[in-house]
Amino acid sequence: MRQKLAAGNWKMNGTGTALAELEILTQAHGHSGAQILICPPATLLAPAAQITKTTAIALGGQDCHAAASGAHTGDISAEMLKDAGATAVILGHSERRADHGETSDMVCAKTSATWHAGLTAVVCLGETLDQREAGETLAVIGSQLAASLPDGASGSNTVIAYEPVWAIGTGKVPTLEQIAEVHDFLRAELSTRLGAETANAIRLLYGGSVKPGNAAEIFATSNVDGALVGGASLKASDFSPIIAALEAS
Ligand code: 13P
Repeated sequence: MRQKLAAGNWKMNGTGTALAELEILTQAHGHSGAQILICPPATLLAPAAQITKTTAIALGGQDCHAAASGAHTGDISAEMLKDAGATAVILGHSERRADHGETSDMVCAKTSATWHAGLTAVVCLGETLDQREAGETLAVIGSQLAASLPDGASGSNTVIAYEPVWAIGTGKVPTLEQIAEVHDFLRAELSTRLGAETANAIRLLYGGSVKPGNAAEIFATSNVDGALVGGASLKASDFSPIIAALEAS
């Protein structure tokens, strides 16, 4: 059985005062049946780790460099994220792919670095609206998956997040049939590459405008093992009902 996962991506939001939201979440869900992963800005990882340390809530980074250390001004390595308290790293988010020109090959190298540091990679994939309207969704997702994932993926070192670019921060959500189509496809692709047993152990998250009001139906969709939540993870009052919907699913 795959353990359900509610992941929050705070993106570039939050200074020290935002940790009050993590305090509330920790009190409400510190020993939840679902796994909870919060990915705050890297500046908040160490103080966040103090808050979550006696709970089951895990922390993650939002990106890392492919090298463990070196002359890369402004970058952060998976080792550093681990040192600050992270057990996971979001990689290949469409905002990184768009804002920083990250290719799937770069994501692949970062995934290797993440595994090498002993962290779980949350690898993000997703099509643009143009690609969807051109009927290219599965081709795009398939090639991103193939190129972003190094050999050696397992249920413990890898989570895949399907995040349609056009659904992120827009309030637009694919139909449940569209989500199921991509998630079933991802499971089948993983199975072809890794074998059914390993493929069945890898969690597949949906991300893009997940809110308290649509979480339950998304979690009831085929091959959806949880969510990667942006805006609605910033406030405990929004994220908490999403966690509750996941636990109830
Ligand atoms: P929103 O939930 O704000 O649409 O963001 C989704 C996302 O990009 C999570 O990584």
